[in-house]
Amino acid sequence: MSFAEKVGELIEELEEARVETLEEVEEFRIKYLGSKGVFKSLFHEFKEVSSEEKREFGKKLNELKSKTESLVSDWKSGFSEQPQESSNLDLTRPGMLRELGAEHPISIIKREIIDIFHAIGFSVAEGPEIEDDWHNFSALNFPPEHPARDMQDTFFVANPNSEEDYVLRTHTSSVQVRVMENNEPPIRVIAPGRVFRNEDISARSHCIFHQIEGLYIDEGVSFADMKQTLEYFAKEFFGKSEIRLRPSYFPFTEPSAEMDVYWGLESEVDYRMTKGTGWLEVMGCGMVDPAVLDSCGIDSEKYSGFAFGMGLERSAMKRFRIPDIRMIFENDARFLKKFKSAL
Ligand code: PHE
Repeated sequence: MSFAEKVGELIEELEEARVETLEEVEEFRIKYLGSKGVFKSLFHEFKEVSSEEKREFGKKLNELKSKTESLVSDWKSGFSEQPQESSNLDLTRPGMLRELGAEHPISIIKREIIDIFHAIGFSVAEGPEIEDDWHNFSALNFPPEHPARDMQDTFFVANPNSEEDYVLRTHTSSVQVRVMENNEPPIRVIAPGRVFRNEDISARSHCIFHQIEGLYIDEGVSFADMKQTLEYFAKEFFGKSEIRLRPSYFPFTEPSAEMDVYWGLESEVDYRMTKGTGWLEVMGCGMVDPAVLDSCGIDSEKYSGFAFGMGLERSAMKRFRIPDIRMIFENDARFLKKFKSAL
């Protein structure tokens, strides 16, 4: 066979070459590109051919070799991208179900309360968890050194820019200040969020918990408006229509009250929950002190308003019969999964 014929045959073979597995690619590579392969022997023979043939086939042979090399590498990468057992692939098989997460009990309670107030025109406001003294205390009528500051044992955080420490907010009333500073009445907001107090951790209390604060300011808002709003809330949230307001004290409201809901004394649990009184303590509330309105840039001659604030953990514990507040923060998946049905 002449050299020209051999080259012609090689071209034909390469055009027809097919492989089905990675092993066949390797066989092909060894056959053509290996150290004893077809190209090696053709290049060897090439030295012997006439100069006329050299001119004709030299370039061709080099081209063929590099084309073969890239063919081999294309095949190789093609095989490594595809699963080799492609025959097992069943595109009609149903997908794998991913287990759905559950909503956290605190999120459930928070969402419900937001929905209840949304329905009567309150929107949600948020603020930072690390606050300055002004927003957490001073603007709310807690003067410096005032004993009322001891009502809430505070975590302080060093402030690199000032002598005065920051605090981890002890209540969401700090958001009330921010909203009043930045908005004109009428104001109707609720502020859900995490708060922090330096308290011993036990089954009943924790140093982290959640509150929802409400604030309503407009011309001519009265104590009666507050009572009616809270009655509406008690009905929607607890399904109970009897509430009572007991006198209380907060530096930023005057008068201040504690709101209780009549829960009833039908079962032993009711006795335990209400300490035998039938009344459940629900939240603090009151008319915003005019001094607070003025500190926050709202004309107290023209406007008045009320505020209220409640913790979420207690409600969540009652609703879902959670015996220990620490379970709410531990994020144990076995506990969290239980709330799936509530979704
Ligand atoms: N901020 C108060 C607390 O943390 C609750 C409250 C809010 C009371 C608004 C009155 C008005 O205890």
